[in-house]
Amino acid sequence: RNPLVLPLTRRSLLLAGGAAGVASMVPAPLRPAAALEATHTLAPGPARIRMVGDAYPETTVWAYDGRVPGPEIRVRQGDRLRIAVTNRLVEETTVHWHGLRVPNAMDGVPHLTQRPIAPFETFTYEFDAVDAGTFWYHPHQRSHEQVGRGLHGALIVEEREPVTVDRDLCWVLGDWRLKEDASISNDFGAMMDMSHGGRLGNTVTVNGRVLDEVPVRAGERVRLRLVNAANARIFGLRFQEHRPVVIAIDGHSVEPHEPEDGRIVLAPAMRVDLVIDMTGAPGDRTTVIDDFYPDRAYRLLDLGYGPDRLRDKPPDTPVRLPANPVAEPDLSAADRHEVTLGGGMMGSMAGAMVDGRMTDMRTLLRQGMAWAINGVSSGGADRHGGGDAGHVMAPILTVARGRTCVIAMANETAWPHPMHLHGHTFRVLSRNGRPTRFREWQDTVLLAPRERVEIAFVADNPGDWMFHCHILEHQAAGMMSTIRVA
Ligand code: C2O
Ligand code: CU
Repeated sequence: RNPLVLPLTRRSLLLAGGAAGVASMVPAPLRPAAALEATHTLAPGPARIRMVGDAYPETTVWAYDGRVPGPEIRVRQGDRLRIAVTNRLVEETTVHWHGLRVPNAMDGVPHLTQRPIAPFETFTYEFDAVDAGTFWYHPHQRSHEQVGRGLHGALIVEEREPVTVDRDLCWVLGDWRLKEDASISNDFGAMMDMSHGGRLGNTVTVNGRVLDEVPVRAGERVRLRLVNAANARIFGLRFQEHRPVVIAIDGHSVEPHEPEDGRIVLAPAMRVDLVIDMTGAPGDRTTVIDDFYPDRAYRLLDLGYGPDRLRDKPPDTPVRLPANPVAEPDLSAADRHEVTLGGGMMGSMAGAMVDGRMTDMRTLLRQGMAWAINGVSSGGADRHGGGDAGHVMAPILTVARGRTCVIAMANETAWPHPMHLHGHTFRVLSRNGRPTRFREWQDTVLLAPRERVEIAFVADNPGDWMFHCHILEHQAAGMMSTIRVA
C-alpha cells in the first residue's frame, strides 16, 4: 500500500461530493469522530536534537516536550482546548497562542495577562478554538531567546469542511545561528542584531531539521501550511514550475490566488496555507528556493517525485476555505488612529520616551533599546532583565469595545517590520494609500521600509493587548506597545 494515499472513508466520500473523477481523492487529515474537549500537556525544557545532519553533533535546544518544533496541536473548530504547561526551564516562561482569538487571561503575556510560569510550576490554558486555520504557539517571555532556542510549535484548527486534498503538510520554518559544532551561538541580544534586521541565522530548518528532500507523487494535491517561526528571517519561497495557490493567510481564508511574482513572502510569525498540485512527472526533482534577500538566495529543499503517478491531471475540486466568524469592520463608523514606527540604524529618530523620560538615541542604544512606537520605547528585555512586558506599559490607544478601529501605520524606519496585534484579527485595507486586492484577514502584517499600511478590526475582545513587531529583537529593543479594548 502506498503510504501517501490515505484510505477512502465514508466521510471523505461525502466531502468529495460524489463528483466524477475524484473518487480517489480523500480529504486530509482524517480523524476519528468528534473530540469536543482536547486536553494537552506541554513541557518546555532543555533537550538535544539532531538538527543538521548525521555528520554533526546534536544541538542543545529549549524545546516543548523535547521536540523542535513542539508537538503539533491539532483540534477541530469549535473544540475547547485545555493545555497544561509545566515549566522545566530554569527561567520563567509563558505560552502565547499566536493568532488565536482567546480571552485576555489566556493570552500568555507575562505581567500583562498573567504571572509568568515559574520553573517547576504548571499553568493551564483553556479556550475555545473559535477560528479554523494554521496558528502557532511560543513563549512571550524573553521571546527573542526562548523562541530562538527552539520553543515554538504549530497549532492547527481544522475546518468543519476542509478543502479536499491528498495530503495535509505543515512546514514550521526555523532559522538558527549555529557554530561549527552545531551548537547555538550564545549571542542573543547582540546590539548589532537588535538595532538592525534582527537575529538572522545561518541555518534554516523545516520542522526542526535541515531537509534535503520532501517526497511527493505526480498528480497529487497537497495542502501545505507554512509557519514562519524564525526570530527575524523573512522568507520568499519559490516552487519553480509549480503554481501554488494561496488559500489562507495567518489562518484565515482568502480568495484563492497565485502569489505575486510566484513568490510566497512570509514574515516572522506569519502563516500561509497553499494548495500545490504536483504537476511534475515521476522521477522529477524540483528545488524550492528562498530568495527574499536576493543576494543571499539559497536552496531550501527539493520536492522529490516518486516513481508512480496518482492521477493524470489536477483535480478540479474547489479550494476556497470557509470564512471564520470574524466581525466585519464598519468603516463608516470607525475610530481612526495613527501609529508611527521609528528607530533603528539608518533612521532619523533622535530619541524616544523611556519610562516617561525623553531619552536620546545614544543613551537608548546604550540601554539596549533602538525602536519606538509613537515615540515610546518599551520592553528592553536586557535592561529590565525580565519579561518582554517586564514593566507596566501604558496603552498607546484605547478603543471602546465593539467599535471598529482603523489604524494607519507608518514605517518611518529603514527596516521591514511585521506588526502583530494580539486578541484580534484585522483586515489589511491599504498599502501606501492603495487598496489591497483581497482585504486579507491577518494578525501580523509586514511593513516594508517607509511603507504605510492601514488595518481595520472590530475591537470585540476586551483587555489590554500586545501590539508589537515580530522581529523578536525589535520587540525586545522597544518596538512593543499595548492597545486597550474597554
Ligand atoms: Cu507571536 Cu506577541 O506574539
Ligand atoms: Cu521590527
